Amino acid sequence: MSCLVDTFHRHVDYVRIAVTSRCNLRCSYCMREEHEGRADTVSLLDKNEINTIIAVLAELGFSKVRFTGGEPLLREGIAGLVREAKQHPSIKTVGLTTNGVLLDRFLPSLIDAGLDTINFSIDTLDRGRYYAITRRDVYRQVRNNLDNLLKTALIAVKLNVVMMRDINSDEICRFVDFTKDYDVTVRFIELQPFDDNQIWRTGRFFGADKIRELLQHHYPGLQAIRGSATQYFSYSLPGHKGSIAIIPAFTRNFCNECNKIRITSDGKIISCLYENEGLNLLPLLRSNAGHQALGDLFRKAVSQKPEDGKHAAGGLQRTSMSEIGG
Ligand code: GTP
Ligand code: 5AD
Ligand code: SF4
Repeated sequence: MSCLVDTFHRHVDYVRIAVTSRCNLRCSYCMREEHEGRADTVSLLDKNEINTIIAVLAELGFSKVRFTGGEPLLREGIAGLVREAKQHPSIKTVGLTTNGVLLDRFLPSLIDAGLDTINFSIDTLDRGRYYAITRRDVYRQVRNNLDNLLKTALIAVKLNVVMMRDINSDEICRFVDFTKDYDVTVRFIELQPFDDNQIWRTGRFFGADKIRELLQHHYPGLQAIRGSATQYFSYSLPGHKGSIAIIPAFTRNFCNECNKIRITSDGKIISCLYENEGLNLLPLLRSNAGHQALGDLFRKAVSQKPEDGKHAAGGLQRTSMSEIGG
């Protein structure tokens, strides 16, 4: 099926849908303690509206949906949304990015609904540090949920680890250890300046070059995985079942291969991570506009995707990643 192609010949077929902006953690690089999120009020997309958005995007040739938040497991009926997304033959992959706090409650129903992938955010394997980073004392629960998820082996799993100097940068080997026994991708992510607390400004940034140096120091057998059509750096280690990646989210720009749009929990289409306003779907959705009109708004959003987001934004910064689900 043909898909949307933007002004710069990029094929856009991946949508990230934030199903809530609420979160049960308060990661220091993301939210202030008093953060309420865009309250789940009348402007929150309802279940039927999310289903309609996905149906329209499936017709436009989208093949991948990722549910994000805030924390998407706080959204009532999340498994139903996954199940519905999986009904469209053109949607090949449905994923979820979660902090894992509530995963024990939802994993069986998510698997039953057909979820293909989980990206699990966990920045440290130490309880005290987990509390310091997230301001919630739920490490044990999260760690149990992670271990159980890896053991089920029913679903593709990536670990997202945001690297911060002197906060978790010494834990790199403990994270790599997961790849010995499990077919999991451990991804070390650069801190991005979308940060309610401006931890960004406190010297915690730990760049991709430093991460690579550390990995090469500890693992001389590290092998670059070739042929991946992405700016991410991917590696394997002899004898390890899983793989390792570095996401240079700040120091590199992935714009030339960007294939995604985002939908905020209150129905704005965000065509680029650095865009702040977006195009509002709610008036169309709530006046029962047809798929044609909704499709036209998506076409318009895609036609507005900047060639180079950061440059186009001229230094504009969002206050929290949770508004757009990472
Ligand atoms: P998959 O590729 O489907 O596994 O997911 P993903 O990496 O797109 O999603 P995930 O929700 O796991 O996000 C991982 C990290 O990548 C987060 O820190 C995101 O902010 C970052 N990221 C995702 N998309 C972009 C992007 O377009 N630009 C930049 N700079 N960073 C991004
Ligand atoms: N910098 C880098 N990654 C971030 N995330 C949230 N805020 C930031 C930030 N300021 C990550 C989360 C999650 C993913 C969706 O985005 O840890 O893994
Ligand atoms: Fe919640 Fe994710 Fe933000 Fe942490 S980074 S506060 S888990 S939305």
